[in-house]
Amino acid sequence: MWVLSCATPAYPTHILPTTTPKPFLSTYSHSQLSIPIHSHNPFVPEVTEAVDALCSEFRAVDNLVACNTSRVLKAFHNAKLASHHFAGCTGYGHDEVGGREALDGAFAEIVGAESAIVRAQFFSGTHAITCALFAFLRPGDELLAVAGAPYDTLEEVIGIRDSHGLGSLKEFGVSYREVPLAEDGGLDWDALTVALKPQTKCALIQRSCGYSWRQSLSVNEIGRAIKIIKASSLHAILRGSMMPYIIFWLLVKKNGMQNPYCLVMVDNCYGEFVESMEPPMVGADLIAGSLIKNPGGTIAPCGGYVAGRENWVKAAAARLSAPGLGTDCGSIPGDIMRTYFQGLFLAPQMVGEAIKGSYLIAEVMASKGYKVQPLPRVPRHDTVQAVQLGNRERLLAFCEAVQRRSPVGSFIKPVAGSSPGYASEQYNGLLLLGGKCRLLWLGWHTLDSMGFSFRRSFEIHMIRMRSG
Ligand SMILES: Cc1ncc(COP(=O)(O)O)c(C=O)c1O
Repeated sequence: MWVLSCATPAYPTHILPTTTPKPFLSTYSHSQLSIPIHSHNPFVPEVTEAVDALCSEFRAVDNLVACNTSRVLKAFHNAKLASHHFAGCTGYGHDEVGGREALDGAFAEIVGAESAIVRAQFFSGTHAITCALFAFLRPGDELLAVAGAPYDTLEEVIGIRDSHGLGSLKEFGVSYREVPLAEDGGLDWDALTVALKPQTKCALIQRSCGYSWRQSLSVNEIGRAIKIIKASSLHAILRGSMMPYIIFWLLVKKNGMQNPYCLVMVDNCYGEFVESMEPPMVGADLIAGSLIKNPGGTIAPCGGYVAGRENWVKAAAARLSAPGLGTDCGSIPGDIMRTYFQGLFLAPQMVGEAIKGSYLIAEVMASKGYKVQPLPRVPRHDTVQAVQLGNRERLLAFCEAVQRRSPVGSFIKPVAGSSPGYASEQYNGLLLLGGKCRLLWLGWHTLDSMGFSFRRSFEIHMIRMRSG
């Protein structure tokens, strides 16, 4: 996913065209979209240079892909995956042929969790995250966001933005606080150490930066935060007496600072397969995300997942369906079930391509004077590459250029509009025609007007633009 913003850049800027972009290799018309094809080198010079310069980063990504693919393969072997698992089921999904269990089991193993629920019935990442939060939180509890403001679409879920009486956590008596980010855009470790209160039942960690101009978190950083959270939650509860302190320190020493009081939920959107570890491996109680992003491998047409400790996955499943129904129902038709396995198998490779794309765009755009986040060649912790274009016109010119080179809807002129769950204007909908996964092909074309090209690209590369 690329995030582009028209906030004023700190560096001198290169002027992007605001009119129809001019192809650099061949001409484009509405009746005939010419994709620049060059037999020996499909890239513009800036991109060729960047590819050469990024040789060692690309090699590291290839190693990551190999490592994650072997983890997926091992999980498929352990699930004894066979072709009958692709058959799917309809109706209640009670007596399906084992594909759902194989998928849940393999997914849990891949992310290092006790259990997982991977379902087409999750509308989106927001829906899966919401089920996980409602699994943890009860009236009187507090939700603490430890990495600054949460992702936009969670504002109405939490009740930070008015949900019009439709049942936010706030309306159910769950309070909310956040630990602002440190000045460098990372976690404020000192503030986190003293942030928890006895009523803090759930700490929310957002792995990816989303739209914020902040650092995305590495899995190691998430693990460090979890240790602090688990330690300080017990500290908050036992505050004020000597004996509990002694017990506390004994527990801390024995359990490596883990304790069951404050639960940790990680918004894992856009983080899957970007590293060789996932948050449950470092102590997250639950993670949640969308199959229309990284773990769907550009193939899954819908769905989401929740993974983590078994009892909490069951509780999240009860929020998705109903208490008592558990994880043993929910039909997934065979054509979709197949794509889930296929997409999961391809996901490490697709994420690898997205990471290479983000390195490329950071390298080229920074060389042209644009402010980028993360900086060129800095190790990635998600698939988001943010670029500040400087003003609304450039943003729109960029959107139009991307749309004109898209395989679907190339003839459509993008306009800003509202999206469900977002307070700010978005351009992201324009790229979703024909399904988010279709964007896979975007990167096979060269974005000549910008002077750089994309490698393979898809929804996890989705270009999102806002003018805030
Ligand atoms: C960090 C983060 N969290 C949550 C979401 C919400 O996911 P969805 O759009 O699938 O609801 C997104 C979406 O881009 C995201 O980037």
